[in-house]
Parts: sequence; C-alpha cells; structure tokens
Amino acid sequence: MDEVVASAPGKVVLFGEHAVVYGHPAIAASIAQRTTVTLRTTEEPGVHIGRARVDVERHPHLATMIAHLWDETSSPGLDLSVTSDVPRGAGLGSSAAFAVASAVALRAAGGRRVDPSTGAWLEGYASDGSEAALFHGGHGVRRRDEEGEHRFGQDALSLEEASLLGHVAEAMSQDGRASPMDTLTSAYGGLVLLSNRVEREDAWIMRRTMPMGDAQRSWELHRLEGLRFEEGLSLVVGHTGINAPTTNMVAGVAERRAEDPGIDETMDAIGALVHRGMEALLAGDAEAVGRAMTENHLLLRRLGVSHPALETLVSAALSTSLGAKLTGAGGGGCMIALTRDAKATSEAIELAGGRTWITSFGTPGAQLEACPEGGLINPE
Ligand code: MEV
Repeated sequence: MDEVVASAPGKVVLFGEHAVVYGHPAIAASIAQRTTVTLRTTEEPGVHIGRARVDVERHPHLATMIAHLWDETSSPGLDLSVTSDVPRGAGLGSSAAFAVASAVALRAAGGRRVDPSTGAWLEGYASDGSEAALFHGGHGVRRRDEEGEHRFGQDALSLEEASLLGHVAEAMSQDGRASPMDTLTSAYGGLVLLSNRVEREDAWIMRRTMPMGDAQRSWELHRLEGLRFEEGLSLVVGHTGINAPTTNMVAGVAERRAEDPGIDETMDAIGALVHRGMEALLAGDAEAVGRAMTENHLLLRRLGVSHPALETLVSAALSTSLGAKLTGAGGGGCMIALTRDAKATSEAIELAGGRTWITSFGTPGAQLEACPEGGLINPE
C-alpha cells in the first residue's frame, strides 16, 4: 500500500525555557527519541486519526495545518497514524515532534518529492513570494538564501515550512504563547539557539515573528554547528513520571508575571545565563556548561516552574554530574544532567525515583522516510 512516512525528534532545553516565550535567548538540542507519522489513503473523505475525522473543533491545530497542506475537497481521504518514543507531557517536545512530522508528511503527500539518489527535495511547491500567502496571522519568516542574501523565500525549504507550521500549531495549543524553540529544534535537529538579536552571523538562519497579546515577539533563529564535545560526556534524562501540560505551565508563568515584577528580572537573569552557556558550549568548556545549567535551574525554580520531584532528581544528580536542571516546561516532566559518568548519574537519579535514559543530543532533524513518486495524490 502507498504510504508517506515522516519522522521528527524530541528535544531537550539546555538553557532558557519559559524566558524564551518572552523573546529571551535559549538553546535546545534534538534527542534520539522520535515521533513518526504515517499517511495512507482511505476511501473515506477527509483526514482521519483512528476512526475520528480531524475537525476544527476537536483538533484545531492539526486541522489548521491540514487546511494549509492538503486539499480535502479534491484529494483522496487520508488515514494518519502516529508512533512515538518521545514521552508525552514530559517536556521533551512530543507535541512539536508530532506537528513537525505531520507537516513534512502532509507536504510530501501533496506532491512534493524527493530525489532518491541525493535525498534532495524536488520542489513541487512555490508560494507566491509574499509572507501572507503561507503565513497567516502575522507569522513571518525571513531567511538567508544560498548566496547569503537575506530575503523572503519563494522556494520555502521544507524544514523551514515544517518548523513554521509546527510553531503555529504549538501557539494555537498554548493560547498564543509559544516560542518557536521546540518546533525549530525538531525540524532542523542539532543544537539551536534563539535570541532577540543576531548572535552570530554565520549561524543565523532566519527571523521568526509572532503576535503575542499586544506585543509582537521576534526571535532570531540560529543553528550551532560544529561544536566539539569531549569524549565521554553524556546527557542523562531523568523522568519524574509526572505529566505536566506545557500550556498550564506557560499560563502559570504569564499569571505570575502580571503580578510580580521580579519575574521579568529573573527572565533577564536567565537571558544573561544563556549567553554564558553559549560561550561555554562554543569553547567546549563542559564544566562551565554544567555550572550554567545548574544556575538556570535555580532561576527556573524562582519562576515557579519546578516541582518537589524535579528538585529530588536534580539534587540526586548533582554529586556525580557537572550540572543539572529541569528541562522544558517543568511542573513535573523531565530533568537533565550533564555528566562524565553517565552510569553513576543515571543510578543516582533512579535511586531517587526517576526513570532515566542516556541520550545523545544533536541528532538529525525531521526526515521523510518514505514517499511514493508524486505523493499520495497521483502515486505512480
Ligand atoms: C517547552 O518545551 C518550552 C517552553 O519555553 C515553552 C515554549 O518555548 O513555547 C516552556
């Protein structure tokens, strides 16, 4: 049977979660755990997950994405199925991975093809060159072409498009408050840096803007490539087992911020710390990276997004690691520890009640795993 299969990785945040929603810098990395979306044609019109037809009421984010990428009136019906080893509600970007993998799959199903010998996209798609054609509601993107020119893209890259549509979906599910961090990391893979300014010309890929409340947020998006990590350095993820929806955690910070001016000061301090973390990463100084992670955790605690179970796991990890912090939205979910002794750190976290895994980070981004020639509209 003809099918389109796309996958995208989860992520960990090394520095800067929550503050990044308000335009402060952050650094995230893709992880080995991935979400895979499979599309198959069905007799039933529309797009279905299991037996349920995707509609605006039940699945507003996915329905919006489908409206952009799949013409339900003239194309065959689709069955969308998902497999994932990114735990949900754990701060590891499961919803972003789903959104990005879905966007890649739907675009490919609509006829965009891949050259099997090179893996390169054969562009069957072109926007009319205006941002508004693809990007509704003030979402915008600016990118650099191959010659280094900064311009708006007629030849929108798939990853760019997937990260953008994924971001729109995330923003819809988080009451309009979402940074592009998770979807950017999931789409591009590797290490990504977001900032309110261009931090490094050679690493900059695009600007993303989004209206949030009465302000217009804007993030300069970078890929940190070619970083060298010392041999034997690992990241251990510890899961508290507590499910904490990102939407609630982000809304909680927004409420506290409205009442307490100290929250903005804490976010400024996080921003400064992210710069230190970035310098340490670029210098390959693992000790300094670890120290900055632990300091970031203390500031996240001050934002009110930690949880007693996270505190227990972070404390347990510290004696055998270079640094540890909660990762993602907090309130439960996961923590990470940077360590030269993954076994000891992982054992310490498990003894304190966490489920652990040792992860490589900076893994590949979204990938099209299978696609018939012509997608699912005119498969040959
Ligand atoms: C969630 O992985 C990260 C947050 O900063 C939310 C966001 O960036 O949209 C808490």
